Amino acid sequence: MTGTDQAGSIPRTSPLPARKRLHVITWGCQMNVYDSARMSDVLAPLGYAPSDTPEGADMVILNTCHIRDKAAEKVFSELGRLRRLKDASQGRMILAVAGCVAQAEGREILARAPYVDIVLGPQTYHRLPEMVAQAARAGGAVIETDFPAEDKFDHLPEQSAPQGVTAFLTVQEGCDKFCSFCVVPYTRGAEQSRSAATILTEARRLIAQGSREITLLGQNVNAWHGAAPDGATWGLGRLLRAMAELPGLARLRYATSHPRDMDDALIEAHRDLPMLMPFLHLPVQSGSDRILAAMNRKHTADDYRRLTDRLRDSRPGLALSSDFIVGHPGESDADFEATMALVRDVGFAQAYSFKYSQRPGTPAAGAPGQVPEAEKDRRLQALQALLREQQARFNAACVGSAMDVLFTGLGRHPGQIVGRSQYLQPIHITGSVSLIGEERAVRIRDVHPNSLSGTLVQERLSA
Ligand code: 5AD
Ligand code: SF4
Repeated sequence: MTGTDQAGSIPRTSPLPARKRLHVITWGCQMNVYDSARMSDVLAPLGYAPSDTPEGADMVILNTCHIRDKAAEKVFSELGRLRRLKDASQGRMILAVAGCVAQAEGREILARAPYVDIVLGPQTYHRLPEMVAQAARAGGAVIETDFPAEDKFDHLPEQSAPQGVTAFLTVQEGCDKFCSFCVVPYTRGAEQSRSAATILTEARRLIAQGSREITLLGQNVNAWHGAAPDGATWGLGRLLRAMAELPGLARLRYATSHPRDMDDALIEAHRDLPMLMPFLHLPVQSGSDRILAAMNRKHTADDYRRLTDRLRDSRPGLALSSDFIVGHPGESDADFEATMALVRDVGFAQAYSFKYSQRPGTPAAGAPGQVPEAEKDRRLQALQALLREQQARFNAACVGSAMDVLFTGLGRHPGQIVGRSQYLQPIHITGSVSLIGEERAVRIRDVHPNSLSGTLVQERLSA
């Protein structure tokens, strides 16, 4: 046992680690937001406390996203800015680049920005304490972009900073689908599911810390299949049933899903679990069978129509959200019109839409029939106009109805509190802060550009 080992049973006052400041900049999806929080948790025992600004920070982590656009360029321009702060700190600041750009372009980052101390992929952040120690010792850069044999989730600290009323919990990572356009299978690696027991333990901890809503996260979350406490292998539908039994939890969601992994058990979970929110993000990408095939999605537009019909039959009031890509290589005007037709047929409460962006190393990047930028722009504008119209119609239809709202925090104006509807619409009311963390019925009165407002319904009068 060394002098600094704390494992001994003799009570003693050990000096707390020096307080250091950690600033994390996060790009990309909710999984990156989750990863950033867990990186902070990993570094907390070393004395790092979160800081809102990079000025004066002892460590800055850029948690990057590689999904679209010139992600690497954004990272380099941010690094240029941080370099000045690092120089001003006389080299004290540790600069780390994490996430999917680090995974895909780690060597290039070190070649172009040699002042970066640590480059780490999404699968290795449980090793951050060693990397920090190594960076301090070596004076050279540390790079960790392997897919290690051990599971990072087995090595993350139990302790985590509270997330608030709504929380995210990563249950699955990576993807085996290999859509033609997507970097995720390369940057996040093969599909991996955490065990049900570790997920339920983490969920209980989140609830104990005050979370009332949990969103299960995964790149392909409905492909989750994990070892269960009863020795069986569960799918996501079964896991949701177990989650729904956790005392204190009010709401459940999951994201993001692939249409091919919506199995019967999951659809039945939508039928049977009132706390599973009737709002599903189910990316379809395109409404053209030709393009869906080129994308390697392995389903047709009609498969998607049938699936969404089944979901709506099993859960009345279910609303849908989706992702779309316009201008995938080979997409003709007629293909694009098929996407518009699918949007009209299905109807979306909200959606994300993107211009196809060539990602190095993906099959579509080198495919013939690349669509000119101006044409992608035109299609994106037409699609977004239709999606905006659908969203506006969905929101307008809420006026006059009573919606369940889970209150999450203070509003912008004095006396206001905000929350989320079952459909994730931000809703504000004039009401007491004591309602934060509570779910209440709100009569919707008005639609605003990015939210709805209403008044509390004095419910349960007859109860
Ligand atoms: N170009 C444009 N959009 C993309 N997406 C993923 N890869 C690309 C790409 N190369 C979109 C998909 C996916 C969402 C997360 O990002 O719509 O569902
Ligand atoms: Fe990428 Fe999603 Fe396709 Fe997987 S299923 S390759 S994460 S778009």
